[in-house]
Amino acid sequence: MNLWADLHNHRGRLLHKWAQYFPAYERHFARFRNQAVSVLEIGVGDGGSLQMWRRFFGPYARLMGIDIDPKCKAFEDYNTAVRIGDQSDPAFLNAIMDELGPVQIIIDDGSHRMDHVRRTFELLYHHRQFDPNGIYVVEDLHTAYWPEFGGGLRRPDSFIEIAKAQVDELNAQHTRGALPPTPFTGATLSMHFYDSMVFYERGRRPPNVSMMADAEGTRQVQIVFNRRAGSD
Ligand SMILES: C[S@@+](CC[C@H](N)C(=O)[O-])C[C@H]1O[C@@H](n2cnc3c(N)ncnc32)[C@H](O)[C@@H]1O
Repeated sequence: MNLWADLHNHRGRLLHKWAQYFPAYERHFARFRNQAVSVLEIGVGDGGSLQMWRRFFGPYARLMGIDIDPKCKAFEDYNTAVRIGDQSDPAFLNAIMDELGPVQIIIDDGSHRMDHVRRTFELLYHHRQFDPNGIYVVEDLHTAYWPEFGGGLRRPDSFIEIAKAQVDELNAQHTRGALPPTPFTGATLSMHFYDSMVFYERGRRPPNVSMMADAEGTRQVQIVFNRRAGSD
């Protein structure tokens, strides 16, 4: 059953996600189904999404939801833990990552405040307990355009602007020295933008060679990254 169909069969606790999220989640999470993965969801709400993730990921997955609201503790379930704390608190995040890790999937569906989303990303994306092949997703990024969440169109500290700048980091090796590669460059295979969400796919980057193949065989071609404009 796909996630969209699963939503229509859901009769459990309230879950709340925008329609376009379901196919996107399915596209990026499919390879983790029925695997012994650890999934962290920031923002438990009324507990419905944790029930959906259990059905989606299957019986081997360890799920953990974190929320600032103590009522969420009641939503613990089979192999599903809930921990109460603030998503911007480094000590809390370290403790839950050490408890759950290694973590393959992190979903930020918490406060959606720009300062929190930024801080949580900074604390978790390079965390030693985050799987180098894991997926990080930030939901509800329409708040990046809303002042009451610290957002606003082209506001430099909104998470959408940060994600746009990360596209340059992803391509830093092609900037001819203008932007030195960062830890993000080395750790990230791809970024995917959707309406209101960004997915990050971590992974090991291949060596910086382009490949050519013809009747003579296959060979690697060294690319000179720092070539000056007009010297081609
Ligand atoms: C949008 S709801 C989560 C919905 C749920 N994931 C779902 O899909 O049904 C957001 C949750 O984030 C929690 N939250 C707000 N600020 C937080 C913070 N600073 N740290 C952790 N959780 C927070 C709220 O208490 C609320 O339960």
